[in-house]
Amino acid sequence: MDITALTSGKKVLFDNYLHAYLAAEDTSSGIVEAFAYSLKAGGKRIRPVLTMLACECLGGKADDALPAGLAIEMIHTFSLIHDDLPALDNDDLRRGRPTCHARFGEATAILAGDALIFQALSVITAAGYPPRIKLDILEFMAEVCGVKGLVQGEYRDVTAEGKEISMDEVRDIYRRKTARLFELCMFAGARVAGGAREQIEPLVGFGTYLGLAFQAIDDILDVTSSREVLGKTTGKDLAQDKATIVKALGLKESRRWARDMTEKAVALLPAAHVVRAEDLKELALSMLKRVA
Ligand code: IPE
Ligand code: IPE
Ligand code: MG
Ligand code: MG
Ligand code: MG
Repeated sequence: MDITALTSGKKVLFDNYLHAYLAAEDTSSGIVEAFAYSLKAGGKRIRPVLTMLACECLGGKADDALPAGLAIEMIHTFSLIHDDLPALDNDDLRRGRPTCHARFGEATAILAGDALIFQALSVITAAGYPPRIKLDILEFMAEVCGVKGLVQGEYRDVTAEGKEISMDEVRDIYRRKTARLFELCMFAGARVAGGAREQIEPLVGFGTYLGLAFQAIDDILDVTSSREVLGKTTGKDLAQDKATIVKALGLKESRRWARDMTEKAVALLPAAHVVRAEDLKELALSMLKRVA
């Protein structure tokens, strides 16, 4: 199935929830205006959809995963706003629009990104989940986003520019900057559904492999796709001599590796003894079709 067809219903559900959330915020604040601009610009909403699928696969309702999905999309959007800054990737196009800093200036974009981190925390604390579940999600979030996770991954990404890199280093950067947030989607969705630890572990492992494949696919698309299709600048990884799988292995092997990671992700699903694994499998396979 095509990725859009598979995710469209849940994407609409999420976008309605996001819009209702933003409608209640005071957009006369320049910071709120800036982060709302980046959040509303769209994007594939893979992370909230994944959070909903993780919840459903354990018998929960997609609606129940919406606050967790919103918090994760906020963290993701903060990472994109900061990733695009002149000091990092220096991009002027994101989600088909000028980047946050191109539109509002650098200071506002830095602060809008900062603000999104704390908005994400308050979305979780305000959610109707039992306190133990909120705490577990917040704990996992802190672990995967901080110095062991996303922020560290972004640091290694920018400091690896222009250097020789091994595939092990590329994989480590991918795991931290991208895959750990996918793990959070799986953890949060499964935890909201009341999944047992033995079920959550393989689902988080699914998130790891899916996230690794996802970043490899993003790096392949940077070479093979276009600005019009992706809504962001292409060809930049090569120009900035980024630590990508394409640099380490070349295009053909990169495709093979993405397929391998996707297969490893799917192979973990039976261990989770879920009610319904089909949609997670379909999502993983449809991502791969972007570079087939
Ligand atoms: C872009 O993520 C950053 C990466 C981790 C590759 P997405 O490709 O999910 O971006 P949006 O949310 O659809 O804009
Ligand atoms: C970014 O990777 C991953 C993040 C954690 C933001 P990229 O730098 O390749 O993402 P794009 O291509 O700008 O979306
Ligand atoms: Mg980057
Ligand atoms: Mg970038
Ligand atoms: Mg990229």
